[in-house]
Amino acid sequence: MHLTTGATGVAGSIVAREFARQGVPIRVLVRDPAKGAWLRNLPGIEIVVGDMRVPESLGAALDGVDRVLMISSPRDDMVGTQCRFIDAAKAAGVGHVVKFSGKESGTTFDPQAFRGTRWHLEIERYLEDSGLAWTHLQPSQFMQVYLPGALTGVDAGRGAIVMPIGDSRLAPVDIEDIARVAVAVMAADGIEGRAYAMTGPEALTMTEVAELLTAATGRPYRYEPVTAGQKRALHAAEGFPPEVLDLLDEIYAGRRGSPDAVVDLSTHRTFGVEPTTFADFARRHAGDFAPVPSA
Ligand SMILES: NC(=O)c1ccc[n+]([C@@H]2O[C@H](COP(=O)([O-])OP(=O)(O)OC[C@H]3O[C@@H](n4cnc5c(N)ncnc54)[C@H](OP(=O)(O)O)[C@@H]3O)[C@@H](O)[C@H]2O)c1
Repeated sequence: MHLTTGATGVAGSIVAREFARQGVPIRVLVRDPAKGAWLRNLPGIEIVVGDMRVPESLGAALDGVDRVLMISSPRDDMVGTQCRFIDAAKAAGVGHVVKFSGKESGTTFDPQAFRGTRWHLEIERYLEDSGLAWTHLQPSQFMQVYLPGALTGVDAGRGAIVMPIGDSRLAPVDIEDIARVAVAVMAADGIEGRAYAMTGPEALTMTEVAELLTAATGRPYRYEPVTAGQKRALHAAEGFPPEVLDLLDEIYAGRRGSPDAVVDLSTHRTFGVEPTTFADFARRHAGDFAPVPSA
């Protein structure tokens, strides 16, 4: 039996749908049954309720499980949550944990200087030292963070991308591609002790992202570069707490300081997944990028 966590989140919901689409049975851990209710409509999905931080809540979730795909939020004490979950998995006799991790595409990005990537490295080391078989799946920035309403700063109302990263390039990857790889990884032999980095197929400036959105939607999008301070003020006005503002400051600074990005499609090739271009992604979501009708 295989288990995935995080199925009510941005990445995990697409992963759960991909298991169902391929007809591969999977158990999913949810902590809020109401939030996970939609999963009941997916074929082959077994829903179990529990909290990754509370070992005594995980008995039914981990019973008979030999491999876990571990996903949780980049906030909410990711290190504590995932390390406690690794302990619980080991105690329950799980043999292999696949960590859904993260890796920036910037060629000179320092993973220790941004708490998100630093946390992932810390959890990866903890898992490697746990005695369990391990595999790391290390996607770059998700394409889905460009959807209006997500944190990247695409303002569909004004047709603008508002970001403090100058002309730095990023190589975002479609979560649909990551989900196909995740389903393959969960079934694969010989992946113990391997780290699978993956980016999208292009390293793009925000100006190029705006051009691709313009082409996909038929309405003009433009990049509006702003300073770090201006972006922080915008996020503060959106109501984010100081610790999230600090986290975002770090990642923007890291991306400003790393102008070039690597494209790494080795994992796509290993698992036979066709890389989705940003243009494909933007066309698929053209309706989401449409202007918000005024009230
Ligand atoms: N954003 C990016 O561009 C990017 C790129 C590469 C890698 N990543 C990594 O991808 C991972 C997933 O990100 P995401 O955006 O999909 O996160 P997300 O939307 O916040 O989803 C997190 C999921 O984990 C669940 N969860 C959190 N704490 C839990 C707990 N104690 N017990 C049980 N379930 C718990 C959440 O459940 P609830 O729904 O109940 O909260 C939710 O289903 C993160 O580690 C992130 O660092 C992100």
